[in-house]
Amino acid sequence: MTFRKATQKDAVRCLEIYDAVSDWEVINGRQTCWERGFYPTMETVQTALASGDLYVLEDEIDGKTVIVASGKINFEQPEYYKNFDWKTSAPDNEILVLHTFGVHPELQRRGYGQAFMAHYEKLARSLGCKVLRLDTVSSNQKSQAMYKKLGFWETGRWEGDPNGVGCALIFVGLEKNAD
Ligand SMILES: CC(C)(COP(=O)(O)OP(=O)(O)OC[C@H]1O[C@@H](n2cnc3c(N)ncnc32)[C@H](O)[C@@H]1OP(=O)(O)O)[C@@H](O)C(=O)NCCC(=O)NCCS
Repeated sequence: MTFRKATQKDAVRCLEIYDAVSDWEVINGRQTCWERGFYPTMETVQTALASGDLYVLEDEIDGKTVIVASGKINFEQPEYYKNFDWKTSAPDNEILVLHTFGVHPELQRRGYGQAFMAHYEKLARSLGCKVLRLDTVSSNQKSQAMYKKLGFWETGRWEGDPNGVGCALIFVGLEKNAD
């Protein structure tokens, strides 16, 4: 398995993963707040590529190298993070944040999610970060199960519509120390 920064060549595959998650949820029930054509979009992917924040995990599957997961990692905490009760305080440049993270639905439950998270933690340590922060929506039971299994603790819930989707969602803050 390889964890690396995404390049322009990976853009289509990254969007394919996000769209596959959205499509899977239309049939199987909503977990995320993702919706094909609305969020995440190619603009989401391109913005993350331009800022050098997009990462992928790839693996050999049936003799082919395949990107199995994609996520954005940076130091940007959304405005609504102020509503969570973070336990570990640190300067912004020591808090590494994961956003827009997904494993292709056809490849889920094979350990790729945990593998990506292990690389995220390793990256945080290599950058001298003290803490990992992320959020999910309360309906996302799969991701909450994974984050809690990996040692993240909940820092609160906040209801709002930060992305202007027209309805409020409950966001769950999650945190873990990087050391
Ligand atoms: C959440 C997600 C990243 C997990 O990826 P994955 O590759 O399936 O994860 P893993 O195989 O490493 O499993 C890790 C743990 O996640 C939890 N988990 C994963 N799928 C689950 C499911 N269907 N039901 C309950 N728990 C689940 C379990 O705790 C699992 O550990 P276990 O297999 O030992 O029980 C994946 O389901 C996903 O991409 N979902 C859609 C996008 C998303 O929700 N992203 C996160 C946004 S915050």
